[in-house]
Amino acid sequence: MIIKLNQILKKEIIINELLSIQDVVRWITTCFSKSDLWYGHGSDNPWDEAVNLVLPILGLPPYMWSMVYNSKLSIKERKIIFELVIKRIKERIPVVYLTHKIWFCGYELYIDNRVLIPRSPISELINNKFKSIIPTNYNPKYILDLCTGSGCIAIACAYLFPNSHIDAVDISLDAINVVEYNIQLHGLENRVTPICSNLFEKLPKYTYDLIISNPPYIDKKDISSLPKEYLYEPIIGLVSKNNGIEIIEKIISMYSSFLRKNGILICEVGDKMVNIIEKYPNIYFQWLNIKNGGGNIFKIENK
Ligand SMILES: C[S@@+](CC[C@H](N)C(=O)[O-])C[C@H]1O[C@@H](n2cnc3c(N)ncnc32)[C@H](O)[C@@H]1O
Repeated sequence: MIIKLNQILKKEIIINELLSIQDVVRWITTCFSKSDLWYGHGSDNPWDEAVNLVLPILGLPPYMWSMVYNSKLSIKERKIIFELVIKRIKERIPVVYLTHKIWFCGYELYIDNRVLIPRSPISELINNKFKSIIPTNYNPKYILDLCTGSGCIAIACAYLFPNSHIDAVDISLDAINVVEYNIQLHGLENRVTPICSNLFEKLPKYTYDLIISNPPYIDKKDISSLPKEYLYEPIIGLVSKNNGIEIIEKIISMYSSFLRKNGILICEVGDKMVNIIEKYPNIYFQWLNIKNGGGNIFKIENK
């Protein structure tokens, strides 16, 4: 006999029968796998999704799993977790908007639905210290994170390049408030500056050594076909006009005035790679190798 969701999604089961983190994660995995959920905000399967729910609620990063899976949960913790599991399944709220925590390149960030849930494959480049993308002796002093959202890329770059100063730019004041919070969380007030600006509009007059951007690039007409989970994210973080490429076009047309000679632009364009190649036949884009997938990213050197 196959167990049905309504037979196991019961508070008394998690309160009376499940004790350890492992027990609860196994139970959530079963519930998730019997539900109509979309994974795409930090995990791609019910088990990882369950771990990403339980550990952050306990204030622990998911990578601590092997150290804590045997630990017992208090009844209060199990009650809280139960309520969140219900919200995840019934309302399809992404896990990160329930826990308000994510670890990007290993650094904790506060996240709520004022900002996109960080998932950019640019994290892989940062984790690899931009190996074979930025020359090893190249230490960018001034960095621009354009379309910063939660500030995830700016903050991870601040750790990677400890002598740099980073401007974290977003058009959304809501996002900038979250960036400010995350900057404080990491004590980076002297090194990362949040700026509310429409792309380059309000930027200081100096030129940057490195510009990194993960702009919105979804075509408005494609939004209605996205899984419900994406509709909790700010639309301004997802959608761009002109079939999804307007912001990318603006970045390409303006970046060179804000990048020093031989400076580097790194920009994520997702599924718009072909549109960009077709639109700019005379620009040499170096398409970066991303092992974990998740989007196309180009590099341009300012010659
Ligand atoms: C795809 S999200 C990326 C957020 C973050 N960098 C990340 O990787 O998770 C794009 C961000 O661009 C911002 N944005 C949209 N249009 C913008 C514009 N014209 N100028 C600056 N930021 C913009 C949105 O508010 C959103 O936070």
